[in-house]
Amino acid sequence: MVVLCLKGMVIVLDDTIIIKAEDISFFYQEDGGESPPAPAIDGLSLEIKKGTFTAILGRNGSGKSTLARQFNGILLPTGGRVLVYGMDTKDEKISLEIRRRIGLVFQNPDNQIVSNVVEEDVAFAPENLGFPPEEIRKVVDEVLSLVGMYEYREHAPHLLSGGQKQRIAIAGVLAMKPECVVFDEPTAMLDPKGREDVIQIIRDLGEFYNTTVVLITHHMEETVSADRLIVMDRGKIALDGPPAEIFTQVDRLMELGLAPPKTTELMWELNRRGFDLPLGALSERECAEEIFKALTNDR
Ligand SMILES: Nc1ncnc2c1ncn2[C@@H]1O[C@H](COP(=O)(O)OP(=O)(O)O)[C@@H](O)[C@H]1O
Ligand SMILES: [Mg+2]
Repeated sequence: MVVLCLKGMVIVLDDTIIIKAEDISFFYQEDGGESPPAPAIDGLSLEIKKGTFTAILGRNGSGKSTLARQFNGILLPTGGRVLVYGMDTKDEKISLEIRRRIGLVFQNPDNQIVSNVVEEDVAFAPENLGFPPEEIRKVVDEVLSLVGMYEYREHAPHLLSGGQKQRIAIAGVLAMKPECVVFDEPTAMLDPKGREDVIQIIRDLGEFYNTTVVLITHHMEETVSADRLIVMDRGKIALDGPPAEIFTQVDRLMELGLAPPKTTELMWELNRRGFDLPLGALSERECAEEIFKALTNDR
């Protein structure tokens, strides 16, 4: 809670809410189409609390990337408003400040790398933001260590693997010391090893550095450790709650074009055949334990 006294007025800001979307809609411009375009975001309201890990799922075209771009003002809502710590993203005076506070990591690391040397690439944003040189040196070393790429600081980014490049792109965003990082399908172009490394970094950010994380992904199992899971459909929020709760709604998930995790699907299929297994047991170990219990106790 932050209390401001302005001209005799007391204003209380709720600084536990980092992003607040109020009834936002967004239309992409159509070039001369007959029918009016469908909204990419359709009357959506949402609050992201500081220090939380929110995962967002949804079939292709459901509006996830459009929403991510509303969070730091790259796209401005057609209707409604987005507030970052109470600051309206439409206010041009604070657009740089909002982009520093809410970092965005995209799918393709090649589009995010701007320099021929890793450490110069990571220093790019803090230099542009006017950080003092000694602070830049410190922050670059810090974030490169955090993503496990410190030994590569003098390498050429284009010679690195996809996963390594994505880690450099993440370091570049972290160098701005953002309070929240929004990842838009950061593992979609990576091999399994690269994917695992990037997901580990995303988990560590929340767990050890208290960074607020929003992860948009195609892979349901990447959302298991999130505090909150949002499923989008046609520009709206279709489901919103703890992952274990959402995963139990297997029929609804399938309707929304999503395949539940393999463990949940197995339990669900067994239940259809007369078992009574909890659908919220998510890890393979928990799944095996539940089935073992059911087989040894009840049968
Ligand atoms: N640059 C664009 N121009 C026009 N329509 C777009 C553009 N980007 C996305 N869309 C449309 O907006 C809707 C939401 O897209 P998007 O936010 O990319 O969804 P997702 O990330 O969930 O796949 C889709 O119908 C998509 O076709
Ligand atoms: Mg997308």
